[in-house]
Amino acid sequence: MIRSVVKGIGAVTPERVVKNAELEGVVETTDEWIVQRTGIRQRYIAGEHETTVSLGTKAAQAALENAGLTIDDIDLIILATSTPNHTFPASAVEIQHALGMKHGFAFDMQAVCSGFVYAVTTADMYIKSGMAKRVIVIGAETFSRLLDWKDRTTCVLFGDGAGAIIMEAAEGNGLTSDRGVLTANLRSDGSHQEKLYVDGGPSTTGTVGHLRMEGREVFKHAVGMITDVIEASFATTGLSADDIDWFVPHQANKRIIDASAKKLNIAEHKVVITVDQHGNTSAASVPLALATAVKDGRIKQGDLILLEAMGGGFTWGAVLLRW
Ligand code: ACO
Repeated sequence: MIRSVVKGIGAVTPERVVKNAELEGVVETTDEWIVQRTGIRQRYIAGEHETTVSLGTKAAQAALENAGLTIDDIDLIILATSTPNHTFPASAVEIQHALGMKHGFAFDMQAVCSGFVYAVTTADMYIKSGMAKRVIVIGAETFSRLLDWKDRTTCVLFGDGAGAIIMEAAEGNGLTSDRGVLTANLRSDGSHQEKLYVDGGPSTTGTVGHLRMEGREVFKHAVGMITDVIEASFATTGLSADDIDWFVPHQANKRIIDASAKKLNIAEHKVVITVDQHGNTSAASVPLALATAVKDGRIKQGDLILLEAMGGGFTWGAVLLRW
């Protein structure tokens, strides 16, 4: 059977680092509150010249280089983002142009913080159907541009960045020892919209709007939703928490990550945490965390990786893949 194997990875953060202490001068908050409630110590904030397209393009270039491939080898680009450069065209198409790709196709995927997990799953479908042989999957965001910098309950939580992987069709034998995506589970439930949304849009206000979140409500649902899709992934494959080499969760809040890992019985030393460095970068958070753990040598070929994310909508999902 066809498997979608990760061939390369790249990530990029904006130049400017903003530590918690700097935010003490923006809203009534403290480094201590932010660290204690979220685990976040700093985030990167895009400068004027940095956009979702420029960050996504750089991450894609780094992933191509890491894979030893060129843009001519790629059939499809999927960009997970909620902060596109323009309402249209899709930022993926702008990235396609920036990469000098004249063939194939590109589109954006909108599932907020779950975007990368949705995009990896979609790329896997295109590869398995034979419609694409190699796909660049990018998560890129400039959430700083959606934030209400007077709202301390949200502005301290988010950051900007981008990560990308190259997925390639490979022959597998249908066993869980195969490299590539082994299973994926996606969910959404629009009845939770008002708990986490942006209060603007082309068809309503005609403005971009600001992010609004009932943090406590999101927190209440997060662990249950995350662990449900992961348990479904274990049930489908016959794998268990003990088989996982690295748990690479969406980086929204360290307390949510810790509680999810605990509920699933995933050992602490197997959990990749980057929320302290990046804050919540929405669709970029999982590929940024993956890239960090690949670069520092933790994730190696053959390792069993569990990805998960949960975000606005609500949307949520999990992917099990062998690196
Ligand atoms: N600094 C200081 N105090 C603050 C701040 C701040 N930045 N923000 C809120 N507070 C205060 C509140 O006003 C409140 O004060 P009060 O008790 O006097 O009313 C107090 O701190 C506690 O607030 P809570 O909201 O109850 O704090 P909580 O422990 O729930 O932490 C947080 C808040 C961090 C937002 C948490 O609820 C959370 O992480 N929620 C989930 C967020 C998330 O995972 N989002 C996921 C996806 S994101 C996406 O899809 C785009």
